[in-house]
Amino acid sequence: QKIAVLLGGTSAEREVSLNSGSAVLQALRNRGYDAYAIDPQQTSVMDLKEQGFERVFNILHGRGGEDGTMQGLLEQIGLPYTGCGVMASSLTMDKLRTKMLWKGFGLPIADMEIVTAANAAELNPQAVVERLGLPLMVKPSREGSSVGLTKVKALEELKAAVDLALRHDDTVLIEEWLDGIELTVPVLDNQVLPAIQIIPEGEFYDYQAKYISDNTQYLCPAPLSEAKEAELRKLVKRAYDAVGCRGWSRIDVMTDSEGNFRLVEVNTTPGMTSHSLFPKSASQVGYIFEDLVEKILELSV
Ligand code: DAL
Ligand code: MG
Repeated sequence: QKIAVLLGGTSAEREVSLNSGSAVLQALRNRGYDAYAIDPQQTSVMDLKEQGFERVFNILHGRGGEDGTMQGLLEQIGLPYTGCGVMASSLTMDKLRTKMLWKGFGLPIADMEIVTAANAAELNPQAVVERLGLPLMVKPSREGSSVGLTKVKALEELKAAVDLALRHDDTVLIEEWLDGIELTVPVLDNQVLPAIQIIPEGEFYDYQAKYISDNTQYLCPAPLSEAKEAELRKLVKRAYDAVGCRGWSRIDVMTDSEGNFRLVEVNTTPGMTSHSLFPKSASQVGYIFEDLVEKILELSV
């Protein structure tokens, strides 16, 4: 079977996707697939079917690849592809709307304020800090890999943090700071895989901690009590189903100072570099990297 591995693209996460993609490409070739790297920055995806491709492994991260637009194009040309469909991809690229939907289902999220490019001038840092306290987490609604994120420790820093985030998106979330632990939970098909706890060296799990630092610690499986682990699995499955995911995704979760879970976001094309979290977790339940890649491919529709 001729497989197109979509990688690279034009988002801020291009470099991450090139790394994920080359690992996926190699794994598919190791398993005997006729797999090719296709970078939408250089090649027309529209022509893939005419070129004899039968299936797509989509490992594009961020806008233009993970946000439903590529999925829509693949639907139109009639090529089966891995991962979530148009709606779930598009919805979960937007953290604001994902959270509103979870909230509507009664699932726990961090308290937040919303700023848009149109109303940013009316931002009242004093009022925000009175309501949500300090520190705060400021992030663009539709970005990945912690691009544009700031931890705000003082009132005077809030405006600059919002301006920075507005450079990446026209909608920005100001969230209460969650004091507990950071977890990420992969879901493969309908199976919730073991949670990983992330312990970054710095203030939070930023781009540096994700892709550059050797000092980020990962605990897999996360050292949760059996009851907490069960609660987390159930929550993650509900969160996954609520937004309509399919195939695979990785859901980020944090805890507050009392240990209550708060859903953070969904990654519908999780990182698949050699040291990424999804493969780390999958290996705990017996999937070596090639098995995992093949399984994701088999789930394509
Ligand atoms: N957005 C990055 C690739 C991840 O979540 O793994
Ligand atoms: Mg993300």
